[in-house]
Amino acid sequence: MRPRGKKHFEERYEAVSSLLVKDPEALKGQWCSLFPGKKQVHLEIGCGKGAFVSGMAKAYPDVAFVAMEVVPTVILMAMEKVFNDPVLKEQDNVRFICADARLIGSYFAENELDAIYLNFSDPWPRPKHYKRRLTYSAFLETYKTILKPEGIIRQKTDNSSLFEYSVEQYKACGYDTHVLDEAPADNVLTEYESRFIAEGLPIYRAVAVNRK
Ligand SMILES: C[S@@+](CC[C@H](N)C(=O)[O-])C[C@H]1O[C@@H](n2cnc3c(N)ncnc32)[C@H](O)[C@@H]1O
Repeated sequence: MRPRGKKHFEERYEAVSSLLVKDPEALKGQWCSLFPGKKQVHLEIGCGKGAFVSGMAKAYPDVAFVAMEVVPTVILMAMEKVFNDPVLKEQDNVRFICADARLIGSYFAENELDAIYLNFSDPWPRPKHYKRRLTYSAFLETYKTILKPEGIIRQKTDNSSLFEYSVEQYKACGYDTHVLDEAPADNVLTEYESRFIAEGLPIYRAVAVNRK
């Protein structure tokens, strides 16, 4: 069914479908096979309209990027951004999964990923929704399995409560946790980040290293 308010959704989705992995379970343990010659696979969860993944894929042509997003109309914009970029077309180092992050353990095998990016994830502030936060302990345990030893989670958010909660959760789950005082020199902006910076809001950043 066509999502409301999006003209020609099916046609547009079909046009970029070469970037979409329709059966990610079938690739479990074999993501590298999609990207010949790439030695690392990085995953962004909740990629939104794709500014970050397209920027990262350009900056790191030797890395394979998988971007996950649950809303079809949103991932369509991300896929179009990548599809219409001549540099990324040539590099061919990005693929997309349209699914909920809760399914991640059935899509990636143990030690398959080098990095996971959580950019401005939904904060789910109400206590009864804490299990939906992408840094809830059950997610962090799954990330631990699918990340290589020394693999990293990179998080940035404008939400101080989510940030404090996440840092506690990383530590409780045994990640080596670093709060960053400033953006790294090679920081690639997300859509939300650009907006928050323009509004003068602080951005909180952490890196959690997988110690298995
Ligand atoms: C606040 S937006 C941030 C978008 C982008 N990362 C940015 O920084 O501009 C959060 C995005 O994550 C997606 N998302 C939220 N929960 C998700 C989940 N469980 N699995 C996959 N995507 C999810 C939302 O649909 C939305 O596009």
